[in-house]
Amino acid sequence: MAVTTSGYVGGAYVALAVAAARAHGLPYLARRRKEPLEALLSTRAEACLVFGGDGVALWDAEGCLRFSPGMARLRVKRIDAGHLDDRLVRLAELSPGASVLDCTLGLAADAIVLARAVGPHGKVVGVEKSPALAALAGEGMAAYDFGPRSCQVEVVRGDFAEVLAASADGAFDCVFFDPMFARPRRASPAFDALRRFADRTPLSAAAVAEARRVARRWVIVKGSRYSTDLRALGLSAEPGPRTATVVWARLRASGG
Ligand SMILES: C[S@@+](CC[C@H](N)C(=O)[O-])C[C@H]1O[C@@H](n2cnc3c(N)ncnc32)[C@H](O)[C@@H]1O
Repeated sequence: MAVTTSGYVGGAYVALAVAAARAHGLPYLARRRKEPLEALLSTRAEACLVFGGDGVALWDAEGCLRFSPGMARLRVKRIDAGHLDDRLVRLAELSPGASVLDCTLGLAADAIVLARAVGPHGKVVGVEKSPALAALAGEGMAAYDFGPRSCQVEVVRGDFAEVLAASADGAFDCVFFDPMFARPRRASPAFDALRRFADRTPLSAAAVAEARRVARRWVIVKGSRYSTDLRALGLSAEPGPRTATVVWARLRASGG
């Protein structure tokens, strides 16, 4: 993987790309004006993190995954407006100043919402095993305006198993998992791209047990109505709308 810019920008974007390459230990590939990205992808890198006028995106030969806080922004706006119906925030019972370990950061949509829920004095740590996705989420969030009512999300590139093992009992108020579902429904091109880069190892019962040790209050696991993943872990979904495609399991911390 490498870092480059769009073929239509220069100056500031080159500086951003060079800094990101250095931060993530990736090569920076200079791109000539209007040089097709395919030229780099076929000869010099399997995937590229591309900085351009429309933000940061991850490209490979099959397509593009763009960092876009769109849905998260809507959820944050609802919280700003006083609505208390975000399922994740409700189940986690987060209050200002709380701390959350998001074990599966992905594109950080949930982490951005969690950062708003815990507020500027709270703490959200997001762990992402895929180096490409960790770089995309980290760079995307660096350009995202969290505003004064959120904390920043601290990105950790690595395996949540290692982060959990290194964490003290009750280190976070809430530990959250949103693993890749075993059987995806027909997905959008963006979700297909996420699947190409993501680590798809199923969540294990051992990881959930370890998360219960690290949580002070709750462990939350997000699942799909169309997957048997939660049941395979012995988890049952919290009551919710029958039409919802996303389901949620919640477990008490083992010390709680
Ligand atoms: C469904 S996505 C999470 C989406 C995320 N909640 C969001 O709002 O964008 C699952 C992510 O977990 C990551 N992942 C899977 N196993 C992991 C592990 N052992 N440690 C850290 N990250 C992991 C995958 O690479 C993928 O990016």
